[in-house]
Amino acid sequence: MEKKQQLYFVVIAFAVFAPAFAATSISEGQDGYSLSRKPEKTTKGWRVVLSRHGATSRYGNDISQIALDVEFQTKDRLRFKIYDPNNKRFEVPLKIESPPLAAPDISYDIELVNDSSLRFKILRKTTGTVLWDTSLADLIFSNQYLQIATNIPSSSVYGFGEHQHPSFRHNMNHITYGMYTRDQSPKMYANLYGVHPFYMCIENDANAHGVLFLNSNAQEVTLSPEPSLTFRTIGGILDFYVFLGPTPENVVQQYTEAIGRPHFPPYWSLGYQLSRWGYPNIDVVKQTVTRMEEYGIPQDVQYGDIDYMNHHLDFTYDKENYAGLPEYIQDLKKQGLHYVIILDPFLSKDEAQGTYRPYELGEQLGIWVNNSDGITPAIGKALPPGYSVYPDYLNPKTADWWTQMCVEFQNVLPYDGIWIDMNEPSNFLNGQYPGCAHNDLNNPPFVPRISDDSLSQSTLCPDSKTYLGSLYDTHSLFGWSEAAPTFRAIQEATGKRPFVLSRSTFVGNGKYTAHWLGDNHALWEDMHTSIIGILEFNLFGIPQVGADICGFYFDTTFELCLRWTQLGAFYPLSRNHNALDQKDQDPAVFGTEFATIARSVLQIRYSLLPYLYTLFFEAHTLGNTVARGLMHEFTADPETHGIDTAFLWGSALMIAPVLQEASTGVF
Ligand code: NOJ
Repeated sequence: MEKKQQLYFVVIAFAVFAPAFAATSISEGQDGYSLSRKPEKTTKGWRVVLSRHGATSRYGNDISQIALDVEFQTKDRLRFKIYDPNNKRFEVPLKIESPPLAAPDISYDIELVNDSSLRFKILRKTTGTVLWDTSLADLIFSNQYLQIATNIPSSSVYGFGEHQHPSFRHNMNHITYGMYTRDQSPKMYANLYGVHPFYMCIENDANAHGVLFLNSNAQEVTLSPEPSLTFRTIGGILDFYVFLGPTPENVVQQYTEAIGRPHFPPYWSLGYQLSRWGYPNIDVVKQTVTRMEEYGIPQDVQYGDIDYMNHHLDFTYDKENYAGLPEYIQDLKKQGLHYVIILDPFLSKDEAQGTYRPYELGEQLGIWVNNSDGITPAIGKALPPGYSVYPDYLNPKTADWWTQMCVEFQNVLPYDGIWIDMNEPSNFLNGQYPGCAHNDLNNPPFVPRISDDSLSQSTLCPDSKTYLGSLYDTHSLFGWSEAAPTFRAIQEATGKRPFVLSRSTFVGNGKYTAHWLGDNHALWEDMHTSIIGILEFNLFGIPQVGADICGFYFDTTFELCLRWTQLGAFYPLSRNHNALDQKDQDPAVFGTEFATIARSVLQIRYSLLPYLYTLFFEAHTLGNTVARGLMHEFTADPETHGIDTAFLWGSALMIAPVLQEASTGVF
């Protein structure tokens, strides 16, 4: 104990002074990094340079010198960034603004401990609670394997996405979550459509903090009972932001101040939305909308899934089965409804020459994701006939082309909103044609816990080239990069506040899009886990979120669909959607009893819309959540930390739905 204390050199860093420094000896045989020279003061905090010692780490190619920058960005926001000062590595192109100088008054301390290896602790000043303590394991910073582990102060941990898992508060029993965007219908613990390496932790004395790991490479996090977290990624840098709260709402406010506040959705998009894949023709759409009206069930939005397209081609519509669609959309508008169209991020390259302008113009502009040569377009197989190319939305030229195509299409179909689907991006092959080469990007030495243990299954090869580098780094940013140009297109085309619904999301998506939880199943369990997903996306700064009411795959049942309609009436995004070939499940199809109950619960939603709209305004201006867990308002009551069968709208309304088959109440 005595000896150890002598070895420790503790630096309490203050915002305006560079920490004092005294060198300590490095014990042989230990892995990790230690300080190689005196900490330097920077305008925002301080920097230390670290040198590696010890044996080569498991996957080799360790970076011998790394730097740790600590920035005192605001009173309640600390950033620490570990990177290679000698070689630029990939960094996520999300702009997080911070004042030019270190914040003068901060609610946290950071202690740097130069023992045999560098460790550091982050503390909450008011209570002394240690929020991070990296003494748990040595830092690894090698070219394709970066690892940092920390003890955390409690097991009340929420967040990390996108996953389906059984409880809102995480199980800390050695659970590993992979994060890599994927066209994957919700499946327990699997990596799904979006990537959100953000968590919130409620400390034992009911203060809360949040942490963002800003990294877009394939990655995983392990939650263990100490309690501790271990982050592993295969590229980029270790870039962390800590938000001190101290309330759960403060955490989300501070998080969205950094990553971008959620957009303010148009009022109509808070109404009831109806969709399905597999309306065979426009007459069936009309009949569906008419029967909703006949029963007096509120409806504000009708969707057009890929059925409206000609051969599943973006920016076309089927002039036979959907003849008269433009006029019908105008009719809907006259009745006060809105129409949202789907668009997919693949453009068929195999249409007859001179017949498909969106592809031909894009081809001329050279705006697709390319093969590893950086020149020839990557060719995948998706919904349209033949083969398809993928727009590289990270390229400003692509963004302009997309915006232009969407704006022009408004003259064909006067849509009100756009649903951007399949943007993980999805591909029905393993990598693009003719398959992925064997190399370090496509087959890295370590693959995080993701489905199929593959970075190319159901998508493109990681060595494909985008404007900002290889898909190895940018894959999980694909949907994110499609969001802003789509948002802009609607603004330009309609002159109104946009509504964009995106399947794939990344940190900061809430600024432009809503989200739904993807291709769930008509199962009671999926109805329950939808609450967890909705609460998580509120933490992620994407409050306009819902799940497919009544379930997407499988035929629903009268009872499940009714209970789900009662719950879904209180989703921030209330949309009933269904898969191809499943039985109809709109609330007017089951007869009078169902319709009467659906109408009455939706009327409750509608009577509360001014409140809901105010919550969205507060989310947009202050960064609050819209749907929130009970622990946001009753943080000091630990009972609330584990509740995910009920939730709140703002601070004033609790929704406690029936989630069990054959139940008639909530007890
Ligand atoms: C996948 C989407 O997740 C689903 O909602 C949609 O209906 C189908 N694609 C068809 O567009």
